Amino acid sequence: MQMTSLNEHQLEAVNIIDGAVAVIAGAGSGKTRTLTYRIANMIEHHVDPRSILAVTFTNKAAKEMKERVVDLVGPQGLAPVISTFHSFCARFLRDEIDYLGEPYTRHYLIMDEDDAKQVIRDTVKDLNLDPNRYSSNRLKDYFSKVKNGQYDQLDFEDETVFVKYNEYLKQNNAVDFDDLLIFTLQLLNNNEALLNYYQEQYKYILID
Ligand SMILES: Nc1ncnc2c1ncn2[C@@H]1O[C@H](COP(=O)(O)OP(=O)(O)O)[C@@H](O)[C@H]1O
Ligand SMILES: [Mg+2]
Repeated sequence: MQMTSLNEHQLEAVNIIDGAVAVIAGAGSGKTRTLTYRIANMIEHHVDPRSILAVTFTNKAAKEMKERVVDLVGPQGLAPVISTFHSFCARFLRDEIDYLGEPYTRHYLIMDEDDAKQVIRDTVKDLNLDPNRYSSNRLKDYFSKVKNGQYDQLDFEDETVFVKYNEYLKQNNAVDFDDLLIFTLQLLNNNEALLNYYQEQYKYILID
């Protein structure tokens, strides 16, 4: 593999195949490149490409990493799972959401931000609340923070909308972007067999 395009510190991280590595450096300093080459290097050292999982925050980074790994190692580079956190979780839930119980099924819908805000607007209307005070923008943002554990106390009306919003999603076999992450975490936390299965599958996990 062509390693001349890495500096000394990047090479040091890339050359570690097993074990935990943390790369801490500023924006634009070459962290994503390091991680990409580390994947390629693992494959060159006969790590099973299917046992590699790399997750990123953006679609752009995931796409670039995928393309780059293929450039570096050829078609074997197609085998690792390289995706955003959200798309990894969406894929995980396609296979595993049944474990959440009824009514969720693998045909679940993903509500994007606009869909979710529409459900909030409808809920606010059903509850005869003032749509200005209970705006879908404010509530969506707030619900997202609550789901991610940044708030635990909602005021009474907000809480009512929150509960109804989640009920609507559940009844419709639908999840929002936050649920993708949270449900995945819940399933892995609460189901040891499932956790073991994924730990067995993905021996090499890289986070961009
Ligand atoms: N050793 C290097 N030599 C030349 N260009 C590099 C090197 N490392 C990274 N780059 C380039 O610098 C830019 C930023 O790198 P990137 O890995 O995206 O940084 P980060 O993820 O830390 O923000 C990219 O265009 C990348 O190809
Ligand atoms: Mg980066």
